[in-house]
Amino acid sequence: MKPHNIALLPAAGVGSRFGANIPKQYARLLNKPVLQHTIDLFAANPRISQIAVVVSPNDEWFDDCIALPPQAAVYRVGGNSRAESIANGLTYLLHHKMIDETDTVLVHDAARCCLPQTALNRLLDALEQDHENRGAILAIPVADTLKRQTPNAPHIAHTVSREYLWQAQTPQAFQAALLHHALQQADWTQITDDASAIELLGIQPILVEGDSRNIKLTRPDDARLAAYFLQNPDN
Ligand code: CTP
Ligand code: MG
Repeated sequence: MKPHNIALLPAAGVGSRFGANIPKQYARLLNKPVLQHTIDLFAANPRISQIAVVVSPNDEWFDDCIALPPQAAVYRVGGNSRAESIANGLTYLLHHKMIDETDTVLVHDAARCCLPQTALNRLLDALEQDHENRGAILAIPVADTLKRQTPNAPHIAHTVSREYLWQAQTPQAFQAALLHHALQQADWTQITDDASAIELLGIQPILVEGDSRNIKLTRPDDARLAAYFLQNPDN
């Protein structure tokens, strides 16, 4: 049987850099919370069978402002880091048999609410061809010239070649059992994405071309750009 595609959305952060008076996943863009946009984009894709949202055990906002579609559920098991929130969510889903070990888990930042369906479908297509179970992530080849600074001041030490360099985005998708195992081995304070945990096992996940509109809402300025992308969908 074909494995199911499960979207796992970490939404347990506080959004300190965004600087709103509520966590950024609950900030409103086009009169809808960021997290609602993200849930809805996965709900609109028939290739996604289940959506699991991970929020903090102390979350005060979810119940008041989020409407869950039938294929989605919320788990209040968020941790102190993104990796811990994902590890906790995955452990819960596996232990309670909500998902199968061979299902594919697509981890996607709740704060990336502008993911175009075309990019999501490219990732799903790549996963269907991934017979070695390496997993796959969306990423963008680096376009700008990169400078490394000197250790003590923002002076240019040298230019870093951008050949073979990609900027990682999400979704990052792996077989559930593999991701669970990788996260149990990893130091949660050291890894900033899911693929890093897989890489530490010596596995080389596939890079799939992402989309420049798939931005992560991080700083206050990002809100205007995200609202623009949401207002002008082309797929
Ligand atoms: N996240 C999470 N649990 C944490 C920290 C982050 O589930 N303990 C989630 C965030 O809610 C977000 C995603 O991981 O959807 C990406 O993290 P980031 O953009 O860093 O969000 P925050 O940690 O909330 O923001 P900041 O780092 O500015 O505080
Ligand atoms: Mg953070």
